[in-house]
Amino acid sequence: TAPLRIGVAGLGTVGAGVLRILQTHGPLIAARAGRSIEVVAVSARDRSRDRGVPLEAYAWESDPVALARHPDIDVIVELMGGHEGAAKDALEAAIASGKDVVTANKALLAHHGQALALAAEEAGRVIRFEAAVAGGIPVIKALTEGMAGNQMTRVMGVMNGTCNYILTRMESAGLPYEEVFEEARQLGYLEADPRLDVDGIDAGHKLSLLASIAFGTQVDFDHVDLEGIGSITIEDIRRAADMGFRIKLLGVAQMTGRGLEQRMQPCLVPATSPLGQLQGGTNMVVLEGDAVGQIVLRGPGAGAGPTASAVLSDLVDIARGNRLPTFGQPAMTLTRARPAQAAVP
Ligand code: NDP
Ligand code: HSE
Repeated sequence: TAPLRIGVAGLGTVGAGVLRILQTHGPLIAARAGRSIEVVAVSARDRSRDRGVPLEAYAWESDPVALARHPDIDVIVELMGGHEGAAKDALEAAIASGKDVVTANKALLAHHGQALALAAEEAGRVIRFEAAVAGGIPVIKALTEGMAGNQMTRVMGVMNGTCNYILTRMESAGLPYEEVFEEARQLGYLEADPRLDVDGIDAGHKLSLLASIAFGTQVDFDHVDLEGIGSITIEDIRRAADMGFRIKLLGVAQMTGRGLEQRMQPCLVPATSPLGQLQGGTNMVVLEGDAVGQIVLRGPGAGAGPTASAVLSDLVDIARGNRLPTFGQPAMTLTRARPAQAAVP
């Protein structure tokens, strides 16, 4: 079988991680995919930057849109980030040029996923984005494949490792929010715009993607009830601990008689529960279906290896020939979400 020919746009933490895995595990991945995955060309802003992986074997294309139109590429892997500009332009160009797309860009999909999914559907292309939700945890494949026989009743979880790090560190070190925030900044945990993390926006993006897949609705980030962790004090955390609870930035999405409800907010969870025990930058996603009941997935939500691992699972999926759309399952049609209502009691 002919190799799957890919172009990688973005060679930062995740992009370099993807090249590293392909360079290390090429034959293993080819065996699993039934064909090899061949990097044809790559793109980033600064050609002279050392990315810790050899790039000599690949063509260099400084314009990601030109990469997306490259005639010898089957799949564009978008790992630049940002919900407007280069990433959006490159994805649109890739779909228009008859290419499939893999991306880790939750912000882009939360804002434009619906339009991109429709464009892909019309063009007979697929968009895969396992890495966009909970990093290395294969939550999208668990939903679309592992739980295919279920009517989903609820999805929830801790989906931003930075917030979980800040909250657990405040408790374990007895430090105020501002100090731990600064510590997280120095450790490089925060997004370039830290409000995406601490205001719950990044986690809200992920929840809106998960909810869309679970309930077969349109991506509806605008109706996620969002509250961040910026106003949580060390006293709040101590009072919660005295009562046997921990504070977690918890996302919940469920379909009710009043429509799809999506909430991302600090919640009290029992300290001894799996969610309460979640430490540091780890993510946890809870999937509930009517047949199987509750499934709990726990693992790294960020970082080069874990995120690249999820990108590779998408590439293998495409190499194997899976052409089903990810959005819209299980209904398989992109129905309109009803507006979210006030939080359930
Ligand atoms: P980085 O900032 O480390 O890397 C971004 C890369 O994109 C860089 O190589 C940069 O080039 C390139 N780039 C940015 N803008 C352009 C442009 N206009 N033209 C060409 N190249 C461009 O990001 P990450 O690797 O951390 O993240 C990539 C994506 O993955 C994002 O969408 C992010 O949200 C998502 N993600 C990241 C996770 C993580 O743990 N890091 C986890 C889950 C998802 P140059 O290097 O030359 O500046
Ligand atoms: N800033 C995100 C987090 C990165 O902390 O979870 C992974 O999406």
